[in-house]
Amino acid sequence: MKTTKCILCALFCTFLMHSNVQSSRHEGSTDPDYARSTYIQLERNLWEKYIDKNTTLTRNERLYKIFNQHFMFIQQHVDQNYNDEDFKILSRYYEWNNLESDVKSIHSLFKDNFVNRLTKDLETNDFRSNGFDERANLDLAETVISDPLWPINATLNKIEINIYQQGLYYKAISEASITLCTAQRSPQQVLYQLYNAITMTELKGYAMMQFSYMLLKTYGRGNYTQESLLMRKNFERRATKAQELMQKVLERADRSLWRCDPNTHKEGSSYLQITRLLQGYIENEVDLNRDGGCWETCSHYQLTESHGCFKDLYCAKQPKCSGKLLFCTFVDSDMWVCPAAPNSDRRYEYIEYENGRTLGEKKYCTRGTTKVDSWWRYLFWHCSYCFCICDEQGKKSDRFFNLRPALSNISDNMIVTGLKFTKQNRIIHLQIQEGQLMERGRVNATSTRWVPVDDYTLLDKGVRDGRDFHTLAWDRREVDLDDLTAPSGHVVTGVKFRIVGRHLNLEMRVSEINFSNGRIIEPEKSFWISNDNTEQSTQNGNRRTEITLKSPDVPVRSKAKSLPISQPNTYIKFTNTDMGKDAAQTTVPYLDAQDVVNSPPVPLEGVGVFLKGLDGYGGFISPRIKTFDYGPYVQAAQTPKDS
Ligand SMILES: *[C@@H]1O[C@H](CO)[C@@H](O)[C@H](O)[C@H]1NC(C)=O
Ligand SMILES: *[C@@H]1O[C@H](CO)[C@@H](O)[C@H](O)[C@H]1NC(C)=O
Ligand SMILES: *[C@@H]1O[C@H](CO)[C@@H](O)[C@H](O)[C@H]1NC(C)=O
Ligand SMILES: *[C@@H]1O[C@H](CO)[C@@H](O)[C@H](O)[C@H]1NC(C)=O
Ligand SMILES: *[C@@H]1O[C@H](CO)[C@@H](O)[C@H](O)[C@H]1NC(C)=O
Ligand SMILES: *[C@@H]1O[C@H](CO)[C@@H](O)[C@H](O)[C@H]1NC(C)=O
Repeated sequence: MKTTKCILCALFCTFLMHSNVQSSRHEGSTDPDYARSTYIQLERNLWEKYIDKNTTLTRNERLYKIFNQHFMFIQQHVDQNYNDEDFKILSRYYEWNNLESDVKSIHSLFKDNFVNRLTKDLETNDFRSNGFDERANLDLAETVISDPLWPINATLNKIEINIYQQGLYYKAISEASITLCTAQRSPQQVLYQLYNAITMTELKGYAMMQFSYMLLKTYGRGNYTQESLLMRKNFERRATKAQELMQKVLERADRSLWRCDPNTHKEGSSYLQITRLLQGYIENEVDLNRDGGCWETCSHYQLTESHGCFKDLYCAKQPKCSGKLLFCTFVDSDMWVCPAAPNSDRRYEYIEYENGRTLGEKKYCTRGTTKVDSWWRYLFWHCSYCFCICDEQGKKSDRFFNLRPALSNISDNMIVTGLKFTKQNRIIHLQIQEGQLMERGRVNATSTRWVPVDDYTLLDKGVRDGRDFHTLAWDRREVDLDDLTAPSGHVVTGVKFRIVGRHLNLEMRVSEINFSNGRIIEPEKSFWISNDNTEQSTQNGNRRTEITLKSPDVPVRSKAKSLPISQPNTYIKFTNTDMGKDAAQTTVPYLDAQDVVNSPPVPLEGVGVFLKGLDGYGGFISPRIKTFDYGPYVQAAQTPKDS
């Protein structure tokens, strides 16, 4: 046990020494830092002006000051409730189990005794009357300072030892990455919430101690000036230590957030499809050329179209592919075809060849199979049924991407807090959630909403392909996969797709913010960011590379959950599923339709699209967000001068 501890400590200390990087500090402080600085200022001010000093105020007037200022501070800065969720990430750790009940008791003493006492005395007493409940107040002060059942000072020391000195925050980083899927918070957000919770615990304990010293002194039960000074010094030393530690921890914690697969997939809510972009299709060679000949092999036909329907054979029994026919191959001469339902996006359920090969999943064929046989012409020429890929536009083929921007209302101080793919009028949109930015990097949670997507249709007057939307086809079906990051101090205020070459390419709008007051600085100076690299980029290492899918099956058939596959600066082509697994009937990848939002909502410093999936499946193109970096703001606040 002892040796393990030493090794851990040694590791941890080396870690600290090597990680002595001072990230650049920004103007402003986070909420917990701000609350702490504000309270220290308030408490020092009370001591200096009303407690230590010989004033002309009566005792009740001084008590009123103490009570009222504490009450106001709590109203503005302190959440009185203890929230188990805040500490959940620590539940696995011995150091926390050792601490949890003490932390809880600080919170309950604060809420049930301290705040209660403040409220009661302020309600029933007016500082001119003489009714502060001296007995009850002194009881509270004694409890806070010396009741062994409520060991506040000891708990503060314990927090320092267990959390700061044992590197518990560092351990929590890896835990936070594991819980990403269930928590819907980026690892940095988990750590930041934890920092917030622990800081507020310490602050509650500290405020009760100072308050008690003030009461005892005001009631003439001792001097306490020394105790108060010592307590403050200790508290400030701990705060600095906690901040330095947290800065390093936050720098290490990942800020990206994406959605794992749901337990059950549902089209429309958990995923979307591009339909019938490229789809397996059976056609006889005789109809693949203008002359009605059978002189070639199937693989001769790599880009053609259907030129007729010879003698109304099988071609007359299936809906024709009136677009391009691509990549034809020969499998076997004779087959049984199981057609899909007329309202399905598929053409076939499966195809079974006489040689035993089956394309797609063979199951009971509800509409009955059709026998399809190739034939000989004059003994020399075989008119074979080929297996081709059909690229046909039409009512059944949803293959459109919105190119109009999705913007948060920056004139109303709204910023982007989340993303999801949606399909509207057959067009895929990247929809944004917006929320109102507030002081110190907070977002007003009740103000968030999914900004309705532009409700145009393909046929609306003035709507143009290439400007308002993009149409995929066999020769333009690439999607760039990128993660975009805003310059420090900027947040995302819009997204859109544009076309670069033949590729769909993500862009984001960013705006600079004032962290302290939560305002967008000069909204009109917002600008767009993108990754302009292409396959042809010549600069070293910047060339965009392709991600290919190997024998992809329908993504939702996978039993296991998808994992991120793509790196940024890559692209993927929409394609058909594997011929053997699915008779090439489905377009993949799918699009992830789940909303990607941090809980609680936070500003974003980046957005991206990436591919998640599993080997042998088509996967999902998913949005990814990067939560705002709170690290540079973990620092003591410049508090306003005393009132
Ligand atoms: C406080 O000040 C008053 C006059 O302002 C003085 O009479 C009194 O002695 C002082 N008390 C102390 C303890 O300094
Ligand atoms: C609180 O703990 C510190 C040790 O960190 C100690 O120096 C101080 O005297 C304690 N204060 C009280 C009131 O027990
Ligand atoms: C309280 O203690 C401080 C510092 O020890 C001392 O300066 C001050 O005079 C004392 N006040 C009273 C009223 O005893
Ligand atoms: C943006 O907010 C402003 C101020 O609230 C409002 O007047 C305006 O209509 C909003 N714009 C949009 C596009 O919603
Ligand atoms: C938060 O947003 C709601 C809804 O827009 C609004 O009514 C409320 O005033 C906002 N709160 C603050 C503190 O701005
Ligand atoms: C940010 O807002 C604070 C508070 O309103 C202000 O004091 C500060 O000057 C602002 N900073 C910038 C860079 O505008």
